[in-house]
Amino acid sequence: MPRMTVNDSPVEFDMEPNTPLLYALREAANLTGTKSCGGGDCVGACMVLVDGAALRSCLITIAEAEGRFITTIEGLSRDRSHPVQQAMVAEQAIQCGYCTPGIVIAAAALVQRNPAPSRQEIEEAIPNMCRCGVYPRLVSAVQRAGRVTQRQESISAAPAPGISAADAARQVPALRVVDEAGRDGADAGETDTE
Ligand code: FES
Ligand code: FES
Repeated sequence: MPRMTVNDSPVEFDMEPNTPLLYALREAANLTGTKSCGGGDCVGACMVLVDGAALRSCLITIAEAEGRFITTIEGLSRDRSHPVQQAMVAEQAIQCGYCTPGIVIAAAALVQRNPAPSRQEIEEAIPNMCRCGVYPRLVSAVQRAGRVTQRQESISAAPAPGISAADAARQVPALRVVDEAGRDGADAGETDTE
């Protein structure tokens, strides 16, 4: 049962070791902010930080993630105060939003290591697919987030959510199991937390 740290909490997944991290996060840990194309094709809706690097969680097994520090979009900031989150809203770089969690994760990793990236560096570091085509605004948002990171400007564009991520997950579980009579049972794929 692979153990790791997810959003600062120690977690042990009672799942097959070759389970993709994506499914463990979404279906067992109820962290559905991480999106999915079903496997490898969308270049990053599923991105999470693994020891600070943005990686596709559909391509990592929970065995490979053993002992690592995982940060999902829910854990990037509890109140949407991360510079990338603020800049994405300020620059209106979100349309349908499906790609947004993965893009924010990739951008956060980039700005962390390079707060003044060029357009080319942004395009190389954030290969994520966006079917709505937010790319021009995305470049502006990432460069603006870099300026916020360097304290050259501040943004107050995205208000804190009115509910904690944990409470939201409890209200809308990722999975429900039903018995043979079709009655609701316990949530499927429970996560053991120490
Ligand atoms: S789910 Fe699309 S690349 Fe991972
Ligand atoms: S905002 Fe719709 S896919 Fe990117």
